[in-house]
Amino acid sequence: MTPEQNQTLTLTGPSTSMGALLRRYWLPFLLSDEVAAPDGDPVRVTLLGESLICFRDTEGHLGLIDEFCAHRRVSLWFGRNEEGGLRCPYHGWKYGVDGRALEVPSESPAFCARVRLLAYPCVERGGVVWTYMGPADLQPPLPEYEWAMVPPGQRYVSKRLQQSNWMQALEGAIDGAHVSWLHRGALANEPMRVGSRGARYQNDTKPRMEVMDSPTGLTIGARRAAEAGEDYWRITQFVMPFYNMIPPYGDHALHGHAFVPIDDHHCFVWTFTHHPTRDLSADEHAAMQSGEGIYAELIPGTWRPVANRGNDYLMDRAAQRSGRHYSGIPGIAMQDASLQESCGPIHDRSRETLASTDTGIIMARNRLLRAARNLEKGEAPPALDPMTHHLRSASFLRPSGMPFSDVADEVRRAGAAPGTPHLSI
Ligand code: FES
Ligand SMILES: [Fe+2]
Repeated sequence: MTPEQNQTLTLTGPSTSMGALLRRYWLPFLLSDEVAAPDGDPVRVTLLGESLICFRDTEGHLGLIDEFCAHRRVSLWFGRNEEGGLRCPYHGWKYGVDGRALEVPSESPAFCARVRLLAYPCVERGGVVWTYMGPADLQPPLPEYEWAMVPPGQRYVSKRLQQSNWMQALEGAIDGAHVSWLHRGALANEPMRVGSRGARYQNDTKPRMEVMDSPTGLTIGARRAAEAGEDYWRITQFVMPFYNMIPPYGDHALHGHAFVPIDDHHCFVWTFTHHPTRDLSADEHAAMQSGEGIYAELIPGTWRPVANRGNDYLMDRAAQRSGRHYSGIPGIAMQDASLQESCGPIHDRSRETLASTDTGIIMARNRLLRAARNLEKGEAPPALDPMTHHLRSASFLRPSGMPFSDVADEVRRAGAAPGTPHLSI
């Protein structure tokens, strides 16, 4: 990639082409729990480089508005959330969830009627608050990813702060080749795969990777040798613009991520877990809450991982030597994050040496760049239609030599019909 392409791919501020693309999708930005109470505390939100405030008014409506008061631009994080709006404590100007001034105490009603802050619509689905930051007349229907549609008992959602550009986090998530290396030690005791047949085939460290464009993004297959005459397939979905769906193990739940830019140097790594046919167990909840599996242990009251750049991610050289943690870093999430943050806030893609296992990453970059370019020419982005969200990852055995196109077709046809079991061994 050229440095210019790298910029186009990674920067998502208001006047960038990737920013324009991302602003055409509903974006997950808070857990509903963070703004649960009417008249509760307002929450600072930075999203795609924009400084915003989210609050829930007396009637329970959510607002996401410009962080700064229209008057003399102080932060509305200090605002009083009361009686149907957020009141700036400096001179008492008060705003509704749609950004309109409800009161400007010192001035006439006509003055008040002219005051309006930038505001974005908010919806809640799947325990998550979503916003749409694009042109109002082009707002798409609400997302229908399966994790967001199942009953609450079948789902768990959390997020962690990552100190890197969103794109290098996304690239790690669709890079199936790193799993048998970086996560080698962790996978042995990983609660989300114990007891599954699939886990034992993952010792083959040279998976053959295949990638195809799909209506939503990319379908990525990793084929490994299994018993005689059979291949073990792990099928990952990349869903535009920043989601992945991770192949499951046995009857364990399905997992996925979203990599949502905070600004160009930070992102939230969301993790979604759901089971299509049963409630998650108390044990599963406890494991996820304590930061096991692909979740990270967080510093209480923050979204910052306990293992972070400031403490060298709790590097354990003895565990590295023994192979218990292949890189020396405990925990799958921070094994990924430590290396992705180590590239610097925006990884310089003009200095890479890409290999055959990077095909999925190359295709995802091209898909995003193409969609951004096409949008500039007036073409609508892919995967806005909620019907395209009805898909899953998968893992299964199929006869050796079965072409990837047949395997990918089968997964696409299986879709994600509510209440049906997932394809998983
Ligand atoms: S700065 Fe907000 S009311 Fe004056
Ligand atoms: Fe990983």
